[in-house]
Amino acid sequence: MPNIVVVGAQWGDEGKGKVIDLLMRDYDYVVRYQGGNNAGHTVVIGEEKFILHLVPSGVLHKDKICVIGNGVVIDPRALLEEIALLKRQGIKAEGRLFISEEAHVIFPYHKTIDDLKEVKQGCGKIGTTKKGIGPCYADKVARSGIRMIDLLNDRIFRERLKQNLDEKNTILKTLYGFKGFDFDEIYTAYAGYRARIRNYVADTSLMLNEAIRKKKSIIFEGAQGTLLDVDFGTYPFVTSSNATAGGACIGSGIGPTAIDKVVGVVKAYTTRVGEGPFPTEFSDTLMEKIRKKGKEFGATTGRPRRCGWFDAVLVNHAVRVNGINEVVITKLDVLNDLDRIKICVAYKYKGKTYKNFKNDVDILSLGEPVYEEVPGWIEDTTRIMSYAKLPSNAKRYLKRIQELLKTRIVLVSVGSDRKQTFAR
Ligand code: IMP
Repeated sequence: MPNIVVVGAQWGDEGKGKVIDLLMRDYDYVVRYQGGNNAGHTVVIGEEKFILHLVPSGVLHKDKICVIGNGVVIDPRALLEEIALLKRQGIKAEGRLFISEEAHVIFPYHKTIDDLKEVKQGCGKIGTTKKGIGPCYADKVARSGIRMIDLLNDRIFRERLKQNLDEKNTILKTLYGFKGFDFDEIYTAYAGYRARIRNYVADTSLMLNEAIRKKKSIIFEGAQGTLLDVDFGTYPFVTSSNATAGGACIGSGIGPTAIDKVVGVVKAYTTRVGEGPFPTEFSDTLMEKIRKKGKEFGATTGRPRRCGWFDAVLVNHAVRVNGINEVVITKLDVLNDLDRIKICVAYKYKGKTYKNFKNDVDILSLGEPVYEEVPGWIEDTTRIMSYAKLPSNAKRYLKRIQELLKTRIVLVSVGSDRKQTFAR
């Protein structure tokens, strides 16, 4: 099988977890390459629901190797809890889950800074998940972060933790009036996590390159989505990592030549959690209806997701910056009851029409979306098992999306279960 990257082509929550779980049958390895436990991937198998935050979605296939790459930031406590929960659900990670020694570690001060910074920013806040993601990546780039390999080395860990606490406690006290953190408390907790995590830590770049040499097949699993990417997303309302396909190389220690294909996961409409521009956002009535039908509540924070029409301008941007070769459309069934369906094909701002995405907050928040309308299908699609059986207007909608994206739609999903998916 070719090595593929699976990315979200909107603002995250496109259903990547389900798609990876489906594709995983044919693959040997699955690698998370960025983000942290801000992600929430939901996979439904029969009656059972699994919500994964850090562990790659492929873990539900019991014979597959799972890797958390160097590009991920890891809250050890959250990771251990997730491993324990999976174990209770009958999924054993030991012996087949490996964590990069170069992955950076999230500490309590990261979470507190994330929280206090948001409060201080007031209405300019980003609406983060408050999991400490941004502050941990900021430390990584500032070269003061603590990696897994540092946590395993007691001397280095003590030194770095002390340096960090000196700095963070000063910031916390002077900028936010927060009392600060105690060295012994954090040291003891993290020494405990270290003992439980040690056996998972490995040189995962070496491991993956050896796997590639042996012609093993790999899925690189993106978290969040293209419009949350720190470079290509709606900055500053983004996460702090590269959720786009290029991040797969940087975040797992493999070269671009090892990647054969990029699959973009696209929801049949658009959603976003947190603050920031959203050109095709619904008005209240439609918002409530689609949110309820699509169960659009964050898998990590439980926050209601904002919902809107499909935006071809955004997704085309995602197709370009990721080099998406194939598209998977998810949650088509959520649109079942609509008379007419809109597709955004451009934005109008100050008399000018923008057909290509422009990363300008004014255009994205004050611009008017230009819509095309197609008729809805008013028919239940959740029991449909093949593309041929879809109502003709649903096919028409998909065909138009494919034309606008100039990229092949290969899979369509009409419900959360593994079975509610078919090839096109
Ligand atoms: P952070 O990643 O917690 O720093 O949050 C930054 C922005 O990304 C916020 O708008 C979050 O709501 C959003 N975000 C982070 N992770 C996800 C995700 O997995 N799905 C959707 N939005 C996310």
